[in-house]
Amino acid sequence: MELTSITLHTGFDAGPVDPRIFGGFLEHMGRCVYEGVYEPTSVHADEAGLRTDVLEALDQLKMPIMRYPGGNFVSGYHWEDGVGDKADRPTLRELAWSSIETNDFGTDEFIGLCRKMDWSPMMAVNLGTGTPEEARNWVEYCNSPTGSKYADMRAYNGNVEPHSVPLWCLGNEMDGPWQLGHGPASDYATRALQAARMMKNVDRRIELVASGSSMLELDTYLEWDRQVLEVLGGVAHYISLHRYVGNPNDDTADFLAVTNAIDAQIEAADALCRFIQAKHGHRRRVLLCFDEWNVWYKNMDMDGAGQVAPHLIEERYNLEDALVVAGFLNSFIRHADVVKIANIAQIVNVIAPVQTRGDDLLIQSIFHVFAQYAARREGVSLQPSIVGPTYESPSYGTVNFIDTSAIIDGDQLHIFITNRSLDEVAPVSVVLADRTIRVMANAEIVTGNDPKAENTYDDQQVVTSQPFGDVSVSDGHATALLPPLSATAMTFNLV
Ligand code: AHR
Repeated sequence: MELTSITLHTGFDAGPVDPRIFGGFLEHMGRCVYEGVYEPTSVHADEAGLRTDVLEALDQLKMPIMRYPGGNFVSGYHWEDGVGDKADRPTLRELAWSSIETNDFGTDEFIGLCRKMDWSPMMAVNLGTGTPEEARNWVEYCNSPTGSKYADMRAYNGNVEPHSVPLWCLGNEMDGPWQLGHGPASDYATRALQAARMMKNVDRRIELVASGSSMLELDTYLEWDRQVLEVLGGVAHYISLHRYVGNPNDDTADFLAVTNAIDAQIEAADALCRFIQAKHGHRRRVLLCFDEWNVWYKNMDMDGAGQVAPHLIEERYNLEDALVVAGFLNSFIRHADVVKIANIAQIVNVIAPVQTRGDDLLIQSIFHVFAQYAARREGVSLQPSIVGPTYESPSYGTVNFIDTSAIIDGDQLHIFITNRSLDEVAPVSVVLADRTIRVMANAEIVTGNDPKAENTYDDQQVVTSQPFGDVSVSDGHATALLPPLSATAMTFNLV
């Protein structure tokens, strides 16, 4: 393959990378909570019933923020069912996934988990079957000092100090006809504004996420967002985007080109936010919260059939999926000026980087790519200029074989490079025009010959992260030879 030149300059940046783009999502769905993070009967359980093996793995992903409790689940969830003495909590027929919800895990258990993991909590309120007042009361329960009903309820439940939840989603996927309580955008916007005002009245410091378009395929795509932002544009700090992608036609090259569509989705949402700001003269522009994203198309089991912790959407991930995860992260980093929060969906068992089976744990391919980025996430995003060979994707148009993003952190440069070629090594040069690359500090690669290769419980080394050394530095520039189907993360020391 011909050389690809990546040129960077510290004067061309997209601003600091918000660490929250490496967030996660914990939903009461399938086995994400129960048999995922929480399983008191497991040999791995700690005194709080949390699975230490799962948490030790997730700890490597350094997620700064965790979204909870849904997802579609939240649109039928009444938070008071999940607090207080466990013996008094109701067991309920759960409405989104046709499961049984025991409510053994609720707000206080989630906050305890966040404190243990150093995750900042991000809560979604129920604007499906719930009321704005119920949402407001949850903010009081979590964030108010004692001295009023719901804050005193929290203290009575063992937490005198406020939980101080800084970020709240105003519902989930309210544009989707599948969502409990779905209606026209104007109905949602009115209800969300009522909730927002009451929630902010309890705690003025909180930031709010308006529920944006969840699927490009819906007729309301972008028009939903426009109507919602007309009403919430001066109140919400962020609008949500969701994206699940797949390879249903079994065309790896096409699948890997999906980054074009992720870029376009971000840029369209941002354009709308700029339009609303300009139209209404808002001082602050609404920014983007990509609070569900991942590969998801192989396992569509979504009927819980009246079970507690049913096996739902337990997607198995292979090498090509891992490269697409790298593509999402590259796109978020390139758009660091507008994408401030992103949550991989989800964290365990349900479309997740780790799975459990009894007391065993499986580390999936996507885990390793996420970890490569998480270890290098601090700094300022640099805008890469790429000149190199391209190919045509039937679904997404022309793409470079090389996909990339870069972060500068003082005297270090982190660069992430995916080679989308199925069979050719890609020679790549990296030039930081106004600085000198002195030496490579470290580099890791996820690669393999077979795009469908995946880890199993018996062999967890099939798709994993390996040290990478095929890099040379001379005259202040770096050159690497990147194997086909690879995601590489490199850190260079600068002069
Ligand atoms: O993450 C699984 C589900 O996908 C979420 O509950 C929902 O928000 C989305 O449709």
